[in-house]
Amino acid sequence: MLAALVAATVALGAKAAAPPKRVAPAATYPAGPGQAIAERACLFCHSPMLATQQAKDSTGWEKTLGQMEKWGAPVNGAEHDTLRQYLLARFGPRVPPAAAAPGTPAK
Ligand code: HEC
Repeated sequence: MLAALVAATVALGAKAAAPPKRVAPAATYPAGPGQAIAERACLFCHSPMLATQQAKDSTGWEKTLGQMEKWGAPVNGAEHDTLRQYLLARFGPRVPPAAAAPGTPAK
């Protein structure tokens, strides 16, 4: 099934005259204070995309990290906090600009 899918994908790619170059998903986590931890503790199970496509708030990341740690991510207490802040800073809630700062007069 997977092999068939791969074969079909390859065949499709080969047929296109000038194949538009698809941007490869990032193979690792973006630079930052938690990158090394994430590369060590998160990459051996799944693609970084699972994390990088998220927009979680602090509680959301806390829950996810707790779940991943339960499943075997080797993260200690200090690393957990670093990682949560790192993930929150890069993959935090996407707040629409108008609602970004309640109480701030509109420009
Ligand atoms: C022991 C293997 C394992 C490790 C280590 C691991 N994960 Fe996961 N992760 C999983 C599995 C299994 C899923 C579920 C995949 C699915 O739903 O298809 C998952 C799903 C996720 C998701 C999507 C679901 C959600 O809760 O939003 C995120 C985000 C995530 N992992 C982040 C991380 C981060 C960050 C780390 C490093 C701290 C990590 N994972 C380490 C196994 C792991």
